[in-house]
Amino acid sequence: MKKLALFGIALGLVVAVSCKKDDNNMTTTPTPTPVTMTLYDSLGGTTMVADPSASGKMIEKGRLGIRSVVDSTIFVIAADPKLNGFFPVLLAEVTAGNLSGFQTLSTNLTDFFCVATGAKNFSYKGMNMKDAHDPAKNSRMNGKAANADFDQFVVDLVAGAKKVGLSDQLIGQVGKVVETTRGDIVQK
Ligand code: HEM
Repeated sequence: MKKLALFGIALGLVVAVSCKKDDNNMTTTPTPTPVTMTLYDSLGGTTMVADPSASGKMIEKGRLGIRSVVDSTIFVIAADPKLNGFFPVLLAEVTAGNLSGFQTLSTNLTDFFCVATGAKNFSYKGMNMKDAHDPAKNSRMNGKAANADFDQFVVDLVAGAKKVGLSDQLIGQVGKVVETTRGDIVQK
């Protein structure tokens, strides 16, 4: 009985509130929360797809897109005489058929770009950008990079991204993310 009375009061309140809103010409339509698309979403986001390089495994479409650009770019850089001199350890390993360093670099670069473009399910576990590009802290980096080297890296990144079919619009957005690292990477 008590419960019924309480329910009656509650119902009365709801009606009163709704009437008041109507009287004041207030709308009861909820305000839509703005949905912010991250660059990671534009690259495919968290939709799971089959991983073309690991049979039976699934991968986030955004990560697959980023990894494809990263791997393609590493190959462009390896063949670029303006930049490949910075990577003697990596190139010697690959030439000797040891892909472990390449795989670590690919994973670290992919994680870095996933996080930088807005992915939520990955974290970057490599060195910070300053240390990674300081030959005194990273023996795999042969010499300090100048602005011109960074510019060339961007040229190769664009070429690598085009090779895997990334649109000019997305390449432009990735370029903006890359630019944010220039201050740490250029140390000459
Ligand atoms: C454009 C933006 C760049 C980004 C976002 C970037 C990012 C990275 C990341 C995440 C790593 C891995 C660090 C680790 O494994 O702990 C790395 C390594 C390295 N980066 Fe960069 N980098 C950039 C530009 C450059 C440039 C301009 C050069 C040279 C001119 C360069 C040369 C290297 C070298 C030599 C390594 C070590 C590779 C190895 O593991 O053997 N990077 N970079």
